[in-house]
Amino acid sequence: MVERDAVRRSYDELAPVYAAKRSDDGPGTRVLKRFLGSLEDPERVLDAGCGQGTPVLSRLAETTTAVGLDFSREQLGLATANAPEAGHVQGDMTALPFERSAFDAVVAYWSLIHVPLDEHRAVIDDFARVLRPGGRLLLCEGTNAWTGENPDWLESGVEMAWEIAGAEATRDQLQEAGFAVLEEWGVPEEFADDEEEGKDGDDSENGDEDHPWTFFVARLERD
Ligand SMILES: C[S@@+](CC[C@H](N)C(=O)[O-])C[C@H]1O[C@@H](n2cnc3c(N)ncnc32)[C@H](O)[C@@H]1O
Repeated sequence: MVERDAVRRSYDELAPVYAAKRSDDGPGTRVLKRFLGSLEDPERVLDAGCGQGTPVLSRLAETTTAVGLDFSREQLGLATANAPEAGHVQGDMTALPFERSAFDAVVAYWSLIHVPLDEHRAVIDDFARVLRPGGRLLLCEGTNAWTGENPDWLESGVEMAWEIAGAEATRDQLQEAGFAVLEEWGVPEEFADDEEEGKDGDDSENGDEDHPWTFFVARLERD
């Protein structure tokens, strides 16, 4: 079971290690470029779980009024340095501190996967609340359901935990929350170190070794 405070403390501890290992030009960045290219005049964009602010928040801030939200103070500190043009908010993505219809687009890169499974639907509902009607969501999830932890993630000596609902359950939740799923992208592993070795958990489906991550592009259909 993911403990929210433990995840936040772990990111506070390993923020520099994560930033050093995070690719600036990995497959997730290519998906972001396609997503941004598909938006019509994106103005207000939320990066939910923005982490260290690169490459996602910094790229968003080049062309939009971007806001990065993260619950880790250390991660948000790096984001402030790495994406100074963006807004920075310390907060929890399970209770977004924004008005209804505040954003034209929301992106969430490898952040929902740290939220307890029984709160995933509430997070997706909150993405719908803060998006304007017709707004777009770019959401990263594990392709296959998996929950577990790694006691020495990225060889940092720090434990990390994940609760991954899988693409099928996430697609259902998006649709139930009022989104039309427009595209799905299977994405390879971003970190060389983030292989199965050292992880301790349960697979509930067969693995997709080539594309362990799925990115959803979805449009909010409700008014
Ligand atoms: C794997 S990192 C991804 C960071 C960045 N999005 C990227 O693409 O590199 C996950 C981030 O989500 C944040 N996070 C996890 N759960 C969160 C929550 N409930 N509310 C806000 N931030 C959260 C963590 O603090 C961490 O910075």
